Amino acid sequence: MLKEQLIVRAKTILEQNWKNGFTIPTSRLYPFQWNWDSGFVAMGLIHYDVSKAIQEIQSLFSGQWENGMVPHILFHSEKETTYFPNFDFWQSSVNKGAPDMPKSSGITQPPVMGFVLENLLKVSGMHPDVVDFAKAIYPKVVKYHRYFYEYRDPHKEKLFFMYHPWESGRDNSPLWDESLNRIEIKQGDIPAYQRRDTSIADASERPTQDQYDRYVYLLQLGKKYQYDGPEIAEESPFLIQDSMMNALLIKSNKSLSSVGQMLDLDHGEIDEWIQESEKNYRQKFWSDQLSSFASYDLRSQEQIPMKEVGGLIPLYAGLATENQADQMASYLSDLHQNGYFLCPSFDVHHPRFDSKRYWRGPIWPHMNWMVAHGMVAYGKHELAKVIREDTVHLIENFGFFEYYEAQKDIAESNAHGYGGNHFSWTASTLINILKNN
Ligand code: DGY
Repeated sequence: MLKEQLIVRAKTILEQNWKNGFTIPTSRLYPFQWNWDSGFVAMGLIHYDVSKAIQEIQSLFSGQWENGMVPHILFHSEKETTYFPNFDFWQSSVNKGAPDMPKSSGITQPPVMGFVLENLLKVSGMHPDVVDFAKAIYPKVVKYHRYFYEYRDPHKEKLFFMYHPWESGRDNSPLWDESLNRIEIKQGDIPAYQRRDTSIADASERPTQDQYDRYVYLLQLGKKYQYDGPEIAEESPFLIQDSMMNALLIKSNKSLSSVGQMLDLDHGEIDEWIQESEKNYRQKFWSDQLSSFASYDLRSQEQIPMKEVGGLIPLYAGLATENQADQMASYLSDLHQNGYFLCPSFDVHHPRFDSKRYWRGPIWPHMNWMVAHGMVAYGKHELAKVIREDTVHLIENFGFFEYYEAQKDIAESNAHGYGGNHFSWTASTLINILKNN
């Protein structure tokens, strides 16, 4: 298909998922506004609709809490009933600093807004509306980042923890298995609830029931402590410094600092965060054994010894040495030469690899976009090209799905992707790649 035709298809999806001021990831499965989805969507919209790109991010920040947190879901409508857990289950009002409207979840997601903002300025060629918008939103993004250091960094390392797998964006990655298995659910610990996702998407492509029970358990724990109380760090059996989320915060801080310099805004505090977090990041997350970066479990006080796509994202934040980047690149080159599309979300050689179940194996286009940028930053242009070509191939041949099979022979015989269809960040990522961004 011609590049132009693919872009038209992508725009049509974004058009259909646009809901008067923001974009839903996909209808029914995710019928509200999601935090990092919106960031990636705005980076697609900016190529052809500056106003919508701005509204997307403004809408997201309309849900910012007084403590600075930007929630992972904003429930702009109370009428959508196809999603669990909905606004009435989260009860964001337990936190006095949560806005009345829009109601929201009580946790956050990977902090992408710093680099999204830099990208919007760059792609729009410093469009005056984007410049005005950037000046207005800048202090809110700084406040969001400060939240991580004030509420999620008990050891003052300038590295933050998450206490729910949904915060990582990689919900059911095998990375979290051990930590989740620490949670023993006794009768009465969690209320009765009805999952909605498995009646919309194929259950074999979604997290398991055991995992969902633990997601609900951790949600309840957060709610008990107003979602930001210090008791969460003291009590949560699940407490992890995610190598990807921390890399994205550093990347976002670096971008924010550049935006500050460009627009003559104060960035002193951000530069201090960068200095300290970068140093600690390099020390804490690199694993020689894996030849990759690894997340850190604050409960067991050790790295989580598994290879996955989030461990490659530090390349995008400039956190790897040349030698480390070589090791990560050769891992991907091997996969490319051995029958895989790039980049599987989890180690294909690990017994817990599951080629179709959400974050236990399949490929996610927005992750590929970041890994490709990381490879370019380290001069690995050929590999970046393969990642981009694979992404376009998957979308063009199998549809605008949420995620994709990584094993070439299975993918070709399936002839479709996995999870939700007509997916917004798949569409926006495709636009970005085809526009050479
Ligand atoms: C879901 O509902 O599966 C989402 O990933 C949670 O944010």
